[in-house]
Amino acid sequence: MDYFNYQEDGRLYGEACDLTALAAQHGTPLYVYSRATLERHWHAFDQAAGDFPHLICYAVKANSNLAVLEVLARLGSGFDIVSKGELCRVLAAGGDASKVVFSGVGKRVDEIEFALEKNIFCFNVESVAELSRINEVAGRMGRVAPISIRVNPDIDAGTHPYISTGLKENKFGIPIEQAQDIYRHAAEMKNLAIHGLDCHIGSQLTEVAPFLEAVDKLLVLIDALAADGIHIKHLDVGGGLGVRYDDETPPEPKEYVAQIKAKLADRKLTLVFEPGRAIAANAGVLLTRVEHLKPGEEKSFAIVDAAMNDLIRPALYSAWQAIIPVDSTLERPSAVYDVVGPICETGDFIGKDRELAITEGDLLAVRSAGAYGFVMASNYNSRPRGAEIMVDGATATVVREREQLNDLWRGEHLLPKA
Ligand code: LLP
Repeated sequence: MDYFNYQEDGRLYGEACDLTALAAQHGTPLYVYSRATLERHWHAFDQAAGDFPHLICYAVKANSNLAVLEVLARLGSGFDIVSKGELCRVLAAGGDASKVVFSGVGKRVDEIEFALEKNIFCFNVESVAELSRINEVAGRMGRVAPISIRVNPDIDAGTHPYISTGLKENKFGIPIEQAQDIYRHAAEMKNLAIHGLDCHIGSQLTEVAPFLEAVDKLLVLIDALAADGIHIKHLDVGGGLGVRYDDETPPEPKEYVAQIKAKLADRKLTLVFEPGRAIAANAGVLLTRVEHLKPGEEKSFAIVDAAMNDLIRPALYSAWQAIIPVDSTLERPSAVYDVVGPICETGDFIGKDRELAITEGDLLAVRSAGAYGFVMASNYNSRPRGAEIMVDGATATVVREREQLNDLWRGEHLLPKA
């Protein structure tokens, strides 16, 4: 559930803020996030975990705006990061490094050093080469690095191939058959402390079964490790819980967490979750204005001022996101449109075959744009990235200013004069 609803005047609001007024004031394309929605989603995980020892590490990659991180940090959230940049954002937003897990297949030496200096909760290690590197860096710094190994349980998450991560053919994690040997190897490394076991099988999963299958496999491994004298303190089940974009019916966090908890029964393990999309996606919309309508014989196009550089999910994953008029009271002829941006690429579309009653100048909202929206934006076609707003009740705050044209070439140089 989110807090983007039509109110009595027939217009779409974010909490108590009129989105028509926000677009008029701040321009479009405009990302708008709802604080109450972010909080509600985070609490859904936290309350479901209840008394079971747990840590919710919001996946920063989903939406790394400082204000978003700040809202979650204030709730006591942990964070899942994949770069030094993300760790710096978490710290700048008031997040607690001791609740940070560091994922990713290619951690650089300077990133490992920085994370060790900041005393993060755990490194999620994805290869033997990375284990050696962390051991070496920690040794040089006179530190002991807390680690988990990310195991690839070879499970088909049934999701888009680009966001499926738990299959053997994917680059992520260590094959589960090799995990025991690699843990033994890690146990011999002087500057590593084995804390956990980690997995992440994919994103936008709409069923609990693949998660449970993964947990079953991991619990067998945890028992095997215990027999070797290696005691796992936390189980990190990654992120991946899906959301409703269209007619999907993903489990609620409550049901997902309850079923995982049930698998753990009375084991003395802390559960770590890394949700990104489930917290942020439906906490945001992208507002865009119709520039032109272009009727055609085969297709009619609604050309809007947001493009694939602003929201790449439709182009990259054929993702479907709802597109709705911000003012539902306007009487317009209805037609079926491909909603496209101004970029010179056929793949530049926000939605295809959408029935919309619109005319030039109307405002549209692309729903579920709070996760993997702005964070994946680029400047392709020299388009400045849009502004980001956070609404909180009747208060709207600009949490990122719209880029200006000269931001586009900041750091670029002309050649020396001949
Ligand atoms: N943990 C790890 C190690 C991950 O790689 C990811 C996402 C997450 C947690 C968070 O997953 P979530 O709860 O958000 O599903 N750009 C794509 C999604 C890529 C997900 C990458 N990893 C999209 O727009 O659908």
